[in-house]
Amino acid sequence: MSADGFAGGPPPGARPDWTIDQAWDAYSSAEHEVWLTLYRRQAALLPGRACEPFLKGLEALDLHRGGIPDFARVNGELRRLTGWTVVAVPGLVPDEVFFEHLANRRFPAGRFIRKPDELDYLQEPDVFHDVFGHVPMLTDPVFADYMQAYGQGGLRAQGLGRLVNLARLYWYTVEFGLLQTPAGLKIYGAGIVSSRAESLFALDDPSPNRLAFDLERVMRTPYRIDDFQQVYFVVPSLEALLAASLQDFAALYGRLARAADIPIAAITPEDHVLTRGTQAYAKSRPAAQ
Ligand SMILES: [Fe+2]
Repeated sequence: MSADGFAGGPPPGARPDWTIDQAWDAYSSAEHEVWLTLYRRQAALLPGRACEPFLKGLEALDLHRGGIPDFARVNGELRRLTGWTVVAVPGLVPDEVFFEHLANRRFPAGRFIRKPDELDYLQEPDVFHDVFGHVPMLTDPVFADYMQAYGQGGLRAQGLGRLVNLARLYWYTVEFGLLQTPAGLKIYGAGIVSSRAESLFALDDPSPNRLAFDLERVMRTPYRIDDFQQVYFVVPSLEALLAASLQDFAALYGRLARAADIPIAAITPEDHVLTRGTQAYAKSRPAAQ
């Protein structure tokens, strides 16, 4: 994850690229136990819900051995599979730092873990969201290339003033993406697979819209960070997602500069609708839009 508004450089103790040591030996047994609780919960829920590349990656990286994974151990296998590595960062990092890491096939991950009484509540991404949620997909060669292309696109987009649109692409794919498969809709987004409640909601609830992915449409759609999504975008394949990210973004940004945002729950005549949601859940919430 990234965030704007950082003044100056990295915080004390961080390297110029904002990385820090994971300090795996410093985790307490209670912290490892939080990881194991979250891991067992999601591992029981996700077969049949998460896409095959995610489940295969989870298996390949063996992320439950001894609690919170040691990044050095994970990186041995991850590097061998796709050339990616996980690096620890103190929290949210500036956009340019985030993009630079992705462009070089490094995934910045928080090293702290949520408290035992906050299993379902997160203000900032922790090591469970970042590593359990994101890293299994990085073992897939096509998705691995997509994430690198995203970082490269981010670096190019800087100065063009369209980062707001690019952030929506990340949100609706890397964080909350769904994949169409012969066996039905499956989850690949890290924000979903790392959340018990949204792993159910995203696939089963009648409330949200589920629409076919269209790059420009996604980039015109705001998102919510405070609750379940009101719309999910479904890619036909990871190859199609990668191909979309390799098109000419300069022309796209030109069009986006002149295009209005699409309200979060709207369905346009151009949309290919998989599920027309009731929006009942969103309407029941105080922060509904
Ligand atoms: Fe994330």
